[in-house]
Amino acid sequence: MIEKRMVAAGFAAVMLLPCLAVAQGASQGAAPAQSASQGAASGQDQQAVQGNAEAGRAKNSMCIGCHEIPGYKSSFPSVYHVPRIVGQNARYIESALREYRNRDRNHPTMTAVAEGLSDRDIADLAAYYGSK
Ligand code: HEC
Repeated sequence: MIEKRMVAAGFAAVMLLPCLAVAQGASQGAAPAQSASQGAASGQDQQAVQGNAEAGRAKNSMCIGCHEIPGYKSSFPSVYHVPRIVGQNARYIESALREYRNRDRNHPTMTAVAEGLSDRDIADLAAYYGSK
């Protein structure tokens, strides 16, 4: 699990170097991830469903393998094209994930993925992908 995540992260770093450089530059002024998750916990609660791109970045390890490979086609359960979500409108991403979770949209993989996401996860992931 950890190993997989590291491989995925390494891969993303290579593929998305320019984006990550920008993201890291932007976050330099912000609190480091650790203190953000401790100190800002109450602040985050107050923001309710306001997505946090930094938090989303930490949650995207399971999305990277499909969504961050240009032109990737998943082969399970059948071959289908994986849409590009990087840079997609955050609201669009958020509503798409909710639709998969509610089964208003049906897709075997994405329904399963979205079922594991909380409202906060969805908002954070939408903010993260929408900001790239
Ligand atoms: C196993 C591959 C796979 C994984 C893992 C995966 N997705 Fe997807 N995703 C897909 C495919 C394939 C589609 C297109 C499904 C369809 O046609 O409805 C999709 C669709 C989407 C869409 C809708 C895009 C659009 O243009 O309508 C969003 C948003 C999305 N995924 C977000 C995520 C997020 C966030 C994660 C991680 C939490 C994730 N996905 C993990 C394969 C994957």
